[in-house]
Amino acid sequence: MDVAVQIEKALAEGDDIRPAAPVPTNGWARMPQLFLSMYRNPIEAWADVAYEEWIVDRCSPFLNLFFVSEPDSIAKILVDKTGAYGVSRSAQRLLKPAIGESLPLAEGTRWRQQRRALAPAFRPASSDKYIPSIEQSARDTAYQWMSAGLHQVNVSEASGATALVALAQTMFSWGDHRSLNELRAASTFYRNSAGQIDIGTFLNLPPWIPSFSRMRAKRVVERFEFLLFDEVSCRRKMTDPGSDLLGLMLKARDAESGFEFDDELIRDNVAFMFAAGHETTAASIGWALYLLALFPKVQNVIAEEVASVLNRGSLDAGDVEQLKGLRMVVDEALRLYPPLPHTGRDARRDDKILGHVIPRGSVMFISPYIIHRHRRLWERPDYFDPTRFSSEKKQHIHKFAYIPFGAGPKICIGAHFAITQIMVVLSVWLSKFQFSLPEGSKPYPLAQITMHPREPLVLNIRQR
Ligand code: HEM
Repeated sequence: MDVAVQIEKALAEGDDIRPAAPVPTNGWARMPQLFLSMYRNPIEAWADVAYEEWIVDRCSPFLNLFFVSEPDSIAKILVDKTGAYGVSRSAQRLLKPAIGESLPLAEGTRWRQQRRALAPAFRPASSDKYIPSIEQSARDTAYQWMSAGLHQVNVSEASGATALVALAQTMFSWGDHRSLNELRAASTFYRNSAGQIDIGTFLNLPPWIPSFSRMRAKRVVERFEFLLFDEVSCRRKMTDPGSDLLGLMLKARDAESGFEFDDELIRDNVAFMFAAGHETTAASIGWALYLLALFPKVQNVIAEEVASVLNRGSLDAGDVEQLKGLRMVVDEALRLYPPLPHTGRDARRDDKILGHVIPRGSVMFISPYIIHRHRRLWERPDYFDPTRFSSEKKQHIHKFAYIPFGAGPKICIGAHFAITQIMVVLSVWLSKFQFSLPEGSKPYPLAQITMHPREPLVLNIRQR
């Protein structure tokens, strides 16, 4: 039987549960309350109109803010009119102290040179060669759980550590490196402190005005920088800097312009990829396991699928392609819990969208979280249904209605690597264990820079 049909049957036989998410408020909260919710957990701040209308404005004397969810208008902002809409000041406020002028914040020629130079390292063939080390890292974790006889595991911790090892291998060829845990702690601290929407963003303050949260994060950034600079300077001294991501950056040269990465730019890019790359992948693994724990019958279908592929031996890119059911679950987890819940652009000149005048300087809020739960785009948007992504139904999803990796020229460069990593880790773990929610456990999403469970996700495990 086709796996989409099996999933459909499993869903029909189970309970009709709404996975954890805030219920949108009926109308907007008043300003002080709204700021407070945005700071604490922005997904609790968005009113129901944001999920119903194509464009919603929240204009104030300080700022013009537009929530845009209509797919063709998103295409205009992210693809057709990139000259009119640039990297948002809010992203600059949050990220510049840690990642300088690296790829996500760069624009124009500086962005193009970096993107061209980094592209070869992220081609599918380059990412796929890391499948064996990702698989090994997932197996190591599974063996640790088995040999310790664990019945309950901290999935957030385990997926974070596994994602970090895989990323460190790709970027630095680091195996079990002394600095790995320190880097992980630093990036979690940065996310928790600087990763909140701060009031300065909404008062339209320029990025150089200090914010309390960024001041708290400063020390961590300095330590992060020290560890990365240390690695870069060691590598510079070698005759061949190697073929991992850092090696490729050190050797990269844009043939057209002669552009080369200097140490600072390497550090900034590596810092971003390290922090964003592992947090996002780890969160996706966690959310997929949470959903499968909530829907055990679907989990059984997926466990059978992965077992049939893994029984043939070690995984390769072709095997990952064959895991159609698991891929549907991953796509649905990225829809319900997009790891980067909010993106945006600033209007660089006056424009008009869907009849609304967009004055220069407006913030165009493009939120994968809102778009993925928009009532005009999805049927039962808050409910889990991986079959939305079956090969038959997926062709009817508008390209700009599903954007966990963004869209347009600044689409996530690490998307293929991330999906591969999520698929490999999940297939190894699901082939060995059955995951379930502990009695009374109620995971709940918290949106900071990334969307992760408010408390670390803990699940029961039973060996299959
Ligand atoms: C599930 C995992 C991931 C998700 C959901 C994700 C999501 C995103 C999104 C939405 C953007 C676009 C932001 C915008 O348009 O403003 C982006 C950009 C980016 N991502 Fe990812 N990402 C993931 C994993 C990774 C990984 C593993 C890496 C690298 C190791 C990475 C590196 C980047 C970079 C460098 C950019 C900036 C691209 C540019 O501006 O040209 N991401 N990501």
